Amino acid sequence: MKSDRFEPARIRELGERAGALLSSAPDLDALEEARVRLLGRKGEITELLRSIGQLDPVDRPVIGNLINEIKDKLNKLLEERRAVLSAGLYDEEPYPGDPTLPGRGSWAGGLHVLHRVVDDIKQILYGMGYSLAEGPDVELDYYNFEALNFPPDHPSRDLQDTFYINRDILLRTQTSPVQVRYMEKHTPPLKILAPGRVYRNESPDPSHAAEFLQIEGLYVDSDVSLADLKNDVTHFVHEFFGSDARVRFRPHFFPFTEPSAEVDMSCFSCKGQGCAVCGKTGWLEIMGAGMVHPHVFRYAGYDPDSYTGFAFGMGVDRIAMLKHGIDDIRRFLANDLRFLRQFWMESRAEVYE
Ligand code: PHE
Repeated sequence: MKSDRFEPARIRELGERAGALLSSAPDLDALEEARVRLLGRKGEITELLRSIGQLDPVDRPVIGNLINEIKDKLNKLLEERRAVLSAGLYDEEPYPGDPTLPGRGSWAGGLHVLHRVVDDIKQILYGMGYSLAEGPDVELDYYNFEALNFPPDHPSRDLQDTFYINRDILLRTQTSPVQVRYMEKHTPPLKILAPGRVYRNESPDPSHAAEFLQIEGLYVDSDVSLADLKNDVTHFVHEFFGSDARVRFRPHFFPFTEPSAEVDMSCFSCKGQGCAVCGKTGWLEIMGAGMVHPHVFRYAGYDPDSYTGFAFGMGVDRIAMLKHGIDDIRRFLANDLRFLRQFWMESRAEVYE
């Protein structure tokens, strides 16, 4: 007698179902459960094999072989699945992306464009022998004005321009006070740069803000000349804006330098032809400069007959606007990520270096 469940097609079907059950077991517990159900002492396959005696002796070898073959296959599948699951190699969902792409990295932010520009300027000046000096934002009137030879009634001291804290203390309107502070404590030769925030009581507009950044330069030795000033300023402009930029000195007045000049560079946009960027003049003003005034040396305790020196001061915001084609100084303070992000890519690379 030959019962239905010994039909080879049904046996194969059982084998396939059992195989699928084993190879899709989601974890080791489920796999063990499936093993007991199929191959355990009372498992479906085991029972089938055990009841083979019900078959006609003629059919026994063929059907027995078939079931044994399937049982071997299932045991193999079982071991394979056990190995995969115990190694933690889950394979339910194939990874939808391209696993060979490099990682995106985490969101690290970036340097503010102004700090980038300050860093670039500092690197150039370090390369020219300047070293870093610093002074306080909240400054004495003495260093900000008096020791820099500002007459007592100079308009810069007026409440219109300067944020006074009291009669003697104010928010510095320029980085020049660092000159005197540094000279008081050091003897020449000295060559310093002094970056920092300065404050003026201005109504904000596209080219004015109540706080902005300056970088001061000061070089004092026994024989420093105007030629040295022109050399350093020109070298700096070539390094920062490119070697085709031209530089000109325009006579000007500052109380703490004599002679004094405003320094212009040829407009990078029109190469000096005259355009909207330079107001059709072909030139862009980039800094104030001059030879240190003898009175300033006296205030610092130096003998003006023994030393000469030059100083320059540039507005970082203005230089950043020129370099990056930014149209409004207020963007630097607005904290708008859509604006700031444009300048991040390079600075991020630096952060990771
Ligand atoms: N302190 C000047 C200003 O803020 C710039 C300057 C610095 C000029 C050094 C000459 C020398 O306008």
